[in-house]
Amino acid sequence: MLKIIIVVGARPNFMKMAPIIEAMNRYPAKFRHRLVHTGQHYDERMSKSFFTDLGMPKPDMDLEVGSGSHAEQTARIMVEFEKVCLRETPDLVIVAGDVNSTMACAITAKKLGARVAHVEAGLRSRDMSMPEEINRLCTDVLCDYLFTTDHFADENLLAEGVPPEKIFFVGNVMIDTLLKHRELARNLDLMQRWGLKTRGFATLTLHRPSNVDDPETLRGILDALREIGKEIPIVFPIHPRTKKMVEQFRLGEYFSSAGKPQGLWMTDPLGYLELLHLNMHAKMVITDSGGLQEEATVLGVPCITLRHNTERPITCEMGTNVIVGNSRAKILHHAFGVLKGDVPTGKVPEKWDGRAAERIVEVLSDLA
Ligand code: UD1
Repeated sequence: MLKIIIVVGARPNFMKMAPIIEAMNRYPAKFRHRLVHTGQHYDERMSKSFFTDLGMPKPDMDLEVGSGSHAEQTARIMVEFEKVCLRETPDLVIVAGDVNSTMACAITAKKLGARVAHVEAGLRSRDMSMPEEINRLCTDVLCDYLFTTDHFADENLLAEGVPPEKIFFVGNVMIDTLLKHRELARNLDLMQRWGLKTRGFATLTLHRPSNVDDPETLRGILDALREIGKEIPIVFPIHPRTKKMVEQFRLGEYFSSAGKPQGLWMTDPLGYLELLHLNMHAKMVITDSGGLQEEATVLGVPCITLRHNTERPITCEMGTNVIVGNSRAKILHHAFGVLKGDVPTGKVPEKWDGRAAERIVEVLSDLA
C-alpha cells in the first residue's frame, strides 16, 4: 500500500488532479491517498466551485495559506506542508503544474525524504521573468517521476540532463477532464441566458503580471479589446488580481456596463463547466493562460495568446494557438484575421485522449 499525498493549491491544479484521484480510487488496495489544499486560491469562484463542478472529494486538509508576496506565500506553504508530511509520512507526494504551491510542496517533501511526482513536467517558456518558469525548473530538478504532456517536454528534460528512466510521456490530464465534462458543459443554458450565438462572441482571460501589473500595458490591451468588442461581444470572466488592477489604474471606462454580454463585458470568474461551455462555442479565445491554450487546441477553437512566449509550443505547432504578444496593433491584426475567416485548422496532440491519468496510475502501480 502506497501512502500518497496529492497537492492542489490554485485554480489550474484542480482539473489536473481530479482525473488522477478518480483513477487511483479504482485501486483501493494499492493506494491510500490524502488530498491537501494549500489554500493559495480561496475565493468560492477560484476554488470551491471547481470541487463541485469536477465531482472532486473535499480536501482532507486545507492549509489556508492565502495570498501574499511570492516569498511569503511560498514560505507559508512550506511551513504548513512540512507539518502535514511529518504527521502523514507519505511515500509519495504528487504535485501538478507550475504554481507556487507546486514548487513549495515539492521542495518540502523531497527534503523530508519522500518521493515526489510532477504532473505536467518539462514545460519551459525560457522566460525567467515568469514566476511559473522558476517554479517549473525547481520542481523538475527535484522530482523522481516526471509525467509529461508532449515531446517538447521530454526533449527539455533530457537536454537538462534528467535520466530518461524518470520521464514518462503520459499525455495531458487536463484534457482527460475536458473530454469527460464536454457533454455536460455543452448542455448548460448560459449562452441562451446571455443571448449569445454560437461563434458569435469571444472569450477572454487575462491575469499575468506582465499584462496586468503595468498601467500602460494594460491600457493598450484593453484598448485593442474594446475595438474587437465593437465587432463581437467579448465575455471576460475577470481574475481577482486583474480586477484589483483595473480599479487601481481607473480603467473601468473600457468595459461595457450592459447587463448582458456586449462590447468588452466583465463578469465574475466562471465555474469550470461554464467556461468550457463558452469556449466550445466561441469564435475565438483570447488569453494569457497556459491551460486555455491547450483546451482551445482540443476544442479546435482559434486561440490568440497575449504573451511573448509559451511553455506549450505544441499548441502552436499542432493546434489552433498563435502567440501575439501584448501590443495593440498585433492583437488587432490577429483578432480581425480570425473575424475575417482566417482560422487555423489544428490537430489534437498525441495522447491527449482522455487516458493520461490512467497511464500515470499504471506507472505508480508498479511502486505500490
Ligand atoms: C496563480 C499562479 C498562476 C496561475 C493562476 C491561475 C503562481 C505564481 N501563479 O496566479 O500561474 O495561472 O494562479 O489563476 O502560483 N486572489 C484572490 N482570491 C483568490 C486568489 C487570489 O482575491 O482566491 C487575488 C489576491 O489579491 C492575490 C492575487 O489574486 O494577491 C494573486 O493570487 P496568487 O495566488 O498570488 O497568484 P495568481 O495571480 O492567482
